[in-house]
Amino acid sequence: MDNRRTFLKKGSLALLALSTSSSLFPVRVCAKTEMTATDPKTAAVIWYSQTGNSERTGRLIAETLNKKGLNVNASDYRDFDPKAIGAYDLIVAGSPVYYYDVPENFKLWLKSLPAITGKPFASYVTFGGTGGNQHNTVCTLADLLAEKGGVPVGIETFGNMSTFAITWSYGNEERVLEYKDLPNEIAYDRMRAYAGLILDRVRQGQGIEIDKDCDFRELIKSSPSIWATKLFISDHTIDGSKCIKCGTCLKKCPVDAIDLEKNHVDTDACIACLGCVNNCPAGAVHMEFMGKEVYGYYDFLERNKLQIPLPEELRNPAGSL
Ligand SMILES: Cc1cc2nc3c(=O)[nH]c(=O)nc-3n(C[C@H](O)[C@H](O)[C@H](O)COP(=O)(O)O)c2cc1C
Ligand code: SF4
Ligand code: SF4
Repeated sequence: MDNRRTFLKKGSLALLALSTSSSLFPVRVCAKTEMTATDPKTAAVIWYSQTGNSERTGRLIAETLNKKGLNVNASDYRDFDPKAIGAYDLIVAGSPVYYYDVPENFKLWLKSLPAITGKPFASYVTFGGTGGNQHNTVCTLADLLAEKGGVPVGIETFGNMSTFAITWSYGNEERVLEYKDLPNEIAYDRMRAYAGLILDRVRQGQGIEIDKDCDFRELIKSSPSIWATKLFISDHTIDGSKCIKCGTCLKKCPVDAIDLEKNHVDTDACIACLGCVNNCPAGAVHMEFMGKEVYGYYDFLERNKLQIPLPEELRNPAGSL
């Protein structure tokens, strides 16, 4: 548990973040340059994904662009060489909504990209359940690429069953299960249509302007929400007796907070993304939220006999997830 001094320090930092990082007023995202590539031959579809929703969406968009004649590189951002971004005629970036925002690690990576002056780009986010600030989050994602000189040609949001493990672990399974049929064929058709739409816009040289909504969640997104969640998380450790040393949690953790040799999690560095607990195949990541054991996404799917249906393009062995 945090002692009083750490608590006050973190509280002040959260308030500082709250007062400086966000604005309640609507913001417009628009191109800062003319579009230079209107006959795209290549595309990069890049995503951040912890539990597969944003990856599946990215892969379907990539497959659709590929069928329309583009040579597409589809990749998790962690496997993509940022220096190669300039080689693509069209860029698509996708992210989950975490704590009402684009996750900080993906933001940092996007900020580190070289300039993409005049290149068309599209962004999408995947969100859970009824959602939470998904429109503004996809605008934030677009803004990061517009800041690099890219020209926006599309934004879109796609709903899923939430992967916020704390909700079901705390006894609210039903709230999550309400969306167990997502994504469905209608959602997959929307993804295919989105890929077609952005390509049409590029070919017509038609950039778009995007307006953020006025939403109080802009004030509590990211740091304050992560901080508030972490206040109720305790006993976040690795259970050495269950761990099979598969390394999945190390790969998933965006802040290198896990030490498998010591079975230790650096809870100060942790950003509560739940990637470790959601993906551990052995149930060896221990975490409590308000005294209740948090269990992961794949365990939740199994307990409820659920399988996420894939779109037909991703069902063959070569394209399967
Ligand atoms: C740590 C965490 C925070 C989340 N925060 C939000 C949120 O603020 N708003 C929302 O609509 N969904 C939220 N979700 C749900 C995810 O956005 C949604 O399940 C998403 O599709 C996961 O994508 P992925 O499988 O590609 O990681 C959250 C999920 C997690 C694990
Ligand atoms: S994901 Fe689980 S089993 Fe694999 S190394 Fe991490 S704690 Fe151990
Ligand atoms: S240790 Fe924290 S930041 Fe790292 S994967 Fe686990 S929940 Fe995410």
